[in-house]
Amino acid sequence: MGWSSWNYYGDRINEKIIIDTIDNMVSSGLRDAGYIYVNIDDGWQKYKGSRADHPLVFDEKKFPRGIKYLADYAHAKGMKLGIYSGPGNTTCAGYTGSQGNEKADAKMFASWGVDHLKYDSCCSHQQASQKVLKQVFGDMSQALQASGRPVVFHACHCGWQNIWQWGNSVGANQWRIGQDISDDFNYPGNREGYYFDVLDMIDRGVGLEQYSGKGHWNDYDMLIIGLHGHSKELVGTGASDTEYRTHFSMWSILSSPLLIGASLDNLTKEDLDTLKNKEIIALNQDALGLQAKRYVSNGDLQIFAKPLADGSWAVALLNRSGQTAHMTLNFHQDLDLPWTKVMVRDLWQHKDLGTFGDSYQAEVQSHEAKMLVIRSGW
Ligand code: GAL
Repeated sequence: MGWSSWNYYGDRINEKIIIDTIDNMVSSGLRDAGYIYVNIDDGWQKYKGSRADHPLVFDEKKFPRGIKYLADYAHAKGMKLGIYSGPGNTTCAGYTGSQGNEKADAKMFASWGVDHLKYDSCCSHQQASQKVLKQVFGDMSQALQASGRPVVFHACHCGWQNIWQWGNSVGANQWRIGQDISDDFNYPGNREGYYFDVLDMIDRGVGLEQYSGKGHWNDYDMLIIGLHGHSKELVGTGASDTEYRTHFSMWSILSSPLLIGASLDNLTKEDLDTLKNKEIIALNQDALGLQAKRYVSNGDLQIFAKPLADGSWAVALLNRSGQTAHMTLNFHQDLDLPWTKVMVRDLWQHKDLGTFGDSYQAEVQSHEAKMLVIRSGW
């Protein structure tokens, strides 16, 4: 859990933005809600162009005191710092990449005190074979391990070449399952023929549950909550509070990394309430580390669920349609639960709803996900 600079700022980043973000995460309570990582995405590097022609150094105009200063700053506040590079000669935004310099770069990141690396190959290695990708990600993973510093390793490849099948074997701790998210809940088709909206991303993850688990996660991409169509970088027209809540609920129950993508200055009270809902976050951070499966798919009415470490189950009743719907969760038929009586709790109302026999029925608004925890009523 944390924050990443890309979804709002793109490469228009600097030291002040990172420091203000760290301070804001502390004062807003986001750090204490679990958002620990502050990840600098593409655009911290000084040079654009090929690594063969330029060294990889920070841009001292944007980051006058350098990256180590920021890592120290984050650590002093009980937080962690992330950085970005890629296996190509250039990164996606055209800055110098790490090609041929993996060991030296990993050492440099470690010497700065960096805790997370997003290593992005989707532009430089778009056509690469699985074999080549395994090699380039494996090289950086090993270089990070040789650096002696524990660094979370994000192998970012936009969900191509079935990266979920082999990401874990090359030392990746997370990998994107899809192309970049746009600030949309449900855009018809792919915006600009490329971007995924919230529902596209949820669909993409169906069937990939077995690949996600502790230390190696399917990554549904950074959150769009709080962008409201005003990102400096991402396309998209924003979503309603209900849709942002559904997005957050689903990323949580699906055990995706939760990386806030908005400028913290622009968050509304509703955005903050969404991001800080402890009962929803608990599904994401549950000790079993499971990704919810889709148990019911009745057109636009879908039910996702997963067991939790304390023996209860988390359930999402997702209404993707344009109308309010009555949705029924059949405990035995849908989830095959052995319990005769079932206690139901609503995680947005923060309320126990009572004990039920065979099923629970709810009115679910358009684009809402009713989030429940159910447990044996005996
Ligand atoms: C894209 C990646 C984005 C962002 C960007 C930086 O490939 O999917 O999340 O990191 O590169 O240039």
